[in-house]
Amino acid sequence: MKIEKSGARYSAIVGIGEKLKELQSQSGQEYLFLNRGVPAVTLIDLSDVIPLIDFNSAELQVYPPNNGIAKLRNAINKYYFGNKINPDTIFVTHGGMGTIDLVISTLDVEEVLIPKFYWGAYRNIMNMRQQAHDSYENYEYLEQNIPLLAGKAVIICDPSNPLGNKFEDEQLLSLIEKLDTAGVIVLFDGPYRKLFIQGEDKFYQQLSVLPNVIIMESFSKSLGLSGQRLGFMHTNNSEFGQEFNIRLLYVTNGVNAFAQLLVHALLTSPKGQKAANDFRYKTVEGMQQNIDYLREKGFLAEEFYLDSTPVGIFAIVNKSEEELLEFRIGSVGLPFFTSLDKEAAKKYSRICIATAHDKVVQFFDKMAN
Ligand SMILES: Cc1ncc(COP(=O)(O)O)c(C=O)c1O
Repeated sequence: MKIEKSGARYSAIVGIGEKLKELQSQSGQEYLFLNRGVPAVTLIDLSDVIPLIDFNSAELQVYPPNNGIAKLRNAINKYYFGNKINPDTIFVTHGGMGTIDLVISTLDVEEVLIPKFYWGAYRNIMNMRQQAHDSYENYEYLEQNIPLLAGKAVIICDPSNPLGNKFEDEQLLSLIEKLDTAGVIVLFDGPYRKLFIQGEDKFYQQLSVLPNVIIMESFSKSLGLSGQRLGFMHTNNSEFGQEFNIRLLYVTNGVNAFAQLLVHALLTSPKGQKAANDFRYKTVEGMQQNIDYLREKGFLAEEFYLDSTPVGIFAIVNKSEEELLEFRIGSVGLPFFTSLDKEAAKKYSRICIATAHDKVVQFFDKMAN
């Protein structure tokens, strides 16, 4: 059988997880799986939310509208954009990964620049879509080279995977506005943002008026629902929106209605909001304890957080994947997340800090002593 090779590679992180499970079962000893990419301090408790969903309804059982169920798009407008945008500029999608793929296949740009330390899927998707791409060093580089970037697209991921750092919104906004004005397309990937920022939040509203900015969001991390495969994309460029919507149709034929109704209940009902807030509170509290602990013990690689704040759900520690593995801690070596300075990256690893604090202390204390 002749096949068309995508040029992409199967996720290295999945492979590391499989190897760790094997080591654990062979040795009979417990391993700490900090290689994962999902918040695991707690699950979201949906017990009071599920009864709010009417399973015997056409809304749940029949094909949903292609760009998403209207009441969910209205809820996204309210919760993410302060009710200030046209809900028709919001497209409900099958999660962040699929959104990025569709955005890249819809865009016609010379080159896409991705951060020096990036989520591996960016590069794999670019390869699969035969999209020319390169890395940029940091935000100063972008700021200083704006005239060279016209006609290109830039991915900004904040809080970042893999660094787990957050830049000030004002700083991001000022950079993004300059890029937008110069005709640079900004792909803002923010699936971790809403874990940390609740209540009054004007950031997406401010981005939403910029014609060259595309916002890509997901409910995988902020609501702990990676199993539901749900996210959204916002653009105020109607031509881009129309083409994206056509491609969305032929990939999804409508996005899972149950997931949409579940997220709608979480965003709008008092019981849903309580479940979401409890989940976020416990997750953020657990991560903060882990950051404080890693800092105190000297494991946090502070050099990555000189001009930004470590928030999670990841952090970079100054130990290699192999060093951590000796203490039965699973991680992903930093070289997996960069194509520049791979050699220098070898002494660091990315760990998921959205993990029970007592377990982190139990395993890292052995290394500290
Ligand atoms: C930076 C970043 N963007 C987007 C995603 C997409 O997540 P999902 O496809 O679960 O929505 C992830 C998942 O790990 C991510 O790390």
